[in-house]
Amino acid sequence: VAKPNPMNGRCRLISGNWKMNLNHLEAIALVQKLHYSLRESDYRYAEISVHPPFTALRSIQLLLETDRVPISLGAQNTYFETSGPFTGEVSPSMLNKLGVKYVIVGHSERRDIFGETDEVVSKKTKAVLDAQMIPIVCVGESLKEKQEEMTEAVLTHQVEAVVSGVNSEGCESLVFAYEPKWAIGSGMPAGASDAVRGAEVIRATVSKFHGEEVASKVRVQYGGSVNSANAKEFMEQKEIDGLLVGGASLSSEAFAAVIQA
Ligand code: G3P
Repeated sequence: VAKPNPMNGRCRLISGNWKMNLNHLEAIALVQKLHYSLRESDYRYAEISVHPPFTALRSIQLLLETDRVPISLGAQNTYFETSGPFTGEVSPSMLNKLGVKYVIVGHSERRDIFGETDEVVSKKTKAVLDAQMIPIVCVGESLKEKQEEMTEAVLTHQVEAVVSGVNSEGCESLVFAYEPKWAIGSGMPAGASDAVRGAEVIRATVSKFHGEEVASKVRVQYGGSVNSANAKEFMEQKEIDGLLVGGASLSSEAFAAVIQA
């Protein structure tokens, strides 16, 4: 079990978002190798979560339970309704039943490719909380917005849309992932100071709606071209509580190196 960071009382969370990669057999192999690579690691420093595609959730759930692997299970998406005529969708309660603890909501790929609006992201966040899981809400500006110095306004707007729709109790359990779009998969991570600034804007916005105490409990991850060479610097910032890792979570060696860094 991860221990709270003595600098701020929050538990660190390092998450691997596999996106649309790895079939269930490949997913099993990756988790087995990752567990082996981490055999001498101190799992108390940070909680680790993996977010496979829906098709691998059951296999990974069984593996984690049977082999008592201290890694949490996450999903990459969900729908906001509980059941019904929504062909192709998966409900939060179905994920909860599979032992899912964290659900990524509003990833920029969902927003940009699948047209998810702030309203949809807000409904999904609420639905995940209602189903007793923890949303990892992704926010971040595009390159154009950054160049136009709109970062703060964009983040504020995205965070407001989510936190205005949840009560304080739900809000304090939220994880936000600050993922600047230009940093995702580009090999150009944000600087640590940009990541810190993003986290500050997120917490200031939470504070506006729910007060400072709630804001101080909200966790903020950084995501975008994280690797073993830059992970440490992000994790040294007291405003940053973890990492949302894409590409570097797809091999056990690379992900273990990020976690160990
Ligand atoms: O959700 C994680 C992601 O969007 C970052 O991807 O490949 O830049 O680590 P990557």
